[in-house]
Amino acid sequence: EDAGAAARFQARIDAEERIEPNDWMPAAYRKTLTRQISQHAHSEIVGMLPEGNWITRAPSLRRKAALLAKVQDECGHGLYLYAAAETLGTSREEMVDALLEGRAKYSSIFNYPTLTWADIGAIGWLVDGAAIMNQIPLCRCSYGPYARAMIRVCKEESFHQRQGYEIMLTLCRGTPEQKAMAQDALNRWWWPCLMMFGPPDSQSQHSDQSTKWKIKRFSNDELRQKFVDATVPQGHYLGLTFPDPDLRFNEETGHWEFGEIDWDEFRQVLAGNGPCNRERLAARRKAHEDGAWVRDAAAAYAEKRRARTEM
Ligand code: ACO
Repeated sequence: EDAGAAARFQARIDAEERIEPNDWMPAAYRKTLTRQISQHAHSEIVGMLPEGNWITRAPSLRRKAALLAKVQDECGHGLYLYAAAETLGTSREEMVDALLEGRAKYSSIFNYPTLTWADIGAIGWLVDGAAIMNQIPLCRCSYGPYARAMIRVCKEESFHQRQGYEIMLTLCRGTPEQKAMAQDALNRWWWPCLMMFGPPDSQSQHSDQSTKWKIKRFSNDELRQKFVDATVPQGHYLGLTFPDPDLRFNEETGHWEFGEIDWDEFRQVLAGNGPCNRERLAARRKAHEDGAWVRDAAAAYAEKRRARTEM
């Protein structure tokens, strides 16, 4: 690649200019964005599964309507993230194949089970809370189509976070059994949520380059700390405790300090050995196979229309 072009590209980034699909870009920039955006899209799609599990068992019509809307939002996020990734030159079919064949990553968090209704509260509050913390800075990502997609995604995620917190609040103000369910959900989701932000900065192989290219605006550890600082007081307001004996507020730094994350568990989940990895991929494969007739019919219809206009 031409060194002058790379220098001009970096100068545009440094000047906070947005990079658009037809602009020149280094091959590695295209590659890392395709990687991140497609992983993000897969996460939204696989993320529909743990919550979809509770749509038929939501405790009221109102809860069911809100959960249905939320899961549909996630589908929408997945689709426009695939569209954003496609502007970099990889087709949606290729990306979906990579997911179904187990070649692509998606967020570790969606490999954990949703055992009770309280998990729907905990996911909204914690998982969507973590997602927002990570995605607000992505609204200023250097790549235009990704940054613009993130604006709408973040607005919807913020509704999801509130509906989750409100479920938790209702349970915590309910019977002792309901409060115990909320506590149990927090106990199970807390550590996996801290892992969502990715490996520690010292082990994050993409961070330096992605920061230079202004894809990342904050490091994994910085966002994790922001999340802990924002979330711990919310948990205390609910009257819940966190499953971390080392959690303590440092008066000097103004931050909540937390204990060691079990990175071995994280590596296991990424390697395909989390509690639900196999189940999630099997569900996506089945949905893909069940939808084959729709894709075939759409392609046949498009072909028929093309033939007709050529007559
Ligand atoms: N789950 C699965 N894989 C992860 C996770 C995670 N929680 N965190 C990091 N990884 C992977 C990275 O994808 C990378 O793998 P790869 O090289 O095979 O692509 C590897 O671990 C090393 O991590 P980093 O070098 O830190 O990777 P990166 O700079 O991409 O940072 C991050 C990871 C913060 C997740 C970034 O990709 C990002 O901001 N992505 C967009 C947000 C997103 O995908 N959110 C999905 C969950 S939120 C939701 O959908 C509701």
